Amino acid sequence: MGFFSWITRVAVGVTAASIPIINRRVGEEKPPAFFLAGDSTTAVDGGWGNGLLATLVQPAWGLNFGLSGATTKSFVDRGYWANVTTHLRENRDAFECFVTISDLDSCHSVEACVVGNARADSKDGNREYQQNLINFANEVKSLGGTALLVSSLTRRVFPDDPHNATDSLHDQRLAAIAAAKATESTIIDLNAASLAYVNAIGRDASWAYNWGDDKKDMTHLNPWGEVVFGRMVADLIIRAKPELESWIAPNETLSNAIWNNLPA
Ligand SMILES: *[C@@H]1O[C@H](CO)[C@@H](O)[C@H](O)[C@H]1NC(C)=O
Ligand SMILES: *[C@@H]1O[C@H](CO)[C@@H](O)[C@H](O)[C@H]1NC(C)=O
Ligand SMILES: *[C@@H]1O[C@H](CO)[C@@H](O)[C@H](O)[C@H]1NC(C)=O
Repeated sequence: MGFFSWITRVAVGVTAASIPIINRRVGEEKPPAFFLAGDSTTAVDGGWGNGLLATLVQPAWGLNFGLSGATTKSFVDRGYWANVTTHLRENRDAFECFVTISDLDSCHSVEACVVGNARADSKDGNREYQQNLINFANEVKSLGGTALLVSSLTRRVFPDDPHNATDSLHDQRLAAIAAAKATESTIIDLNAASLAYVNAIGRDASWAYNWGDDKKDMTHLNPWGEVVFGRMVADLIIRAKPELESWIAPNETLSNAIWNNLPA
């Protein structure tokens, strides 16, 4: 065997062995796109959504479709869900598309909500709510995306003990967990993490994240709260999907505070 044919054979062998690996890596390394479906606790100006999007490293990107006052029903009726799925279809070839599905049960804070809008405090309402979350996740999967069921951001209502916020979104959390299980999707348990955090840092420190100058809105987030809870969601996503870590800019100071139960 001459020197050149030996080189050729080695080169061919290396190339052939590398092809599948290269192909797989190209597939895995499509940058992610995040489309956020949710209500006011996700939306621009009051929710955590833009706090999460702000951590993304280009060309990763995302859009916040959060709709104030939305329920699983009105989110569809008002065309927001169709907008999410359109974006998913248009971007799935170039991006690994993730759709976060969060809360969407604004009946927890709006007295006038009726059953049929997925009211969680009636048994039928909660079943319908859970089924709607399942339908969303299944649709995302059928369109080639990945659904991330994000349990609701905790409210910061402390009736007496400043380290024991009311667990008012317990049913919504269980519905999100059940929907993730039923569709083999990922659960991002923001409700458990945020409730544990606000209980640990206490009422006064957690009210610093409340929306509005008087800080009396215990449901929504001010701009700093958006950063803090957006980071919490980003960290929870990295824990669930470590392959996304390189697309999410770290903030160790903030992460250390959050996961060590210190006010951020
Ligand atoms: C769809 O989403 C895009 C991007 O966020 C937005 O500009 C547009 O107004 C949305 N359309 C509807 C009908 O919500
Ligand atoms: C928190 O308060 C609830 C009542 O709202 C009570 O049932 C629960 O035991 C309390 N938890 C702790 C840890 O004190
Ligand atoms: C990172 O966290 C620090 C302290 O928690 C904060 O001051 C800073 O604004 C954060 N940076 C970004 C880009 O969010």
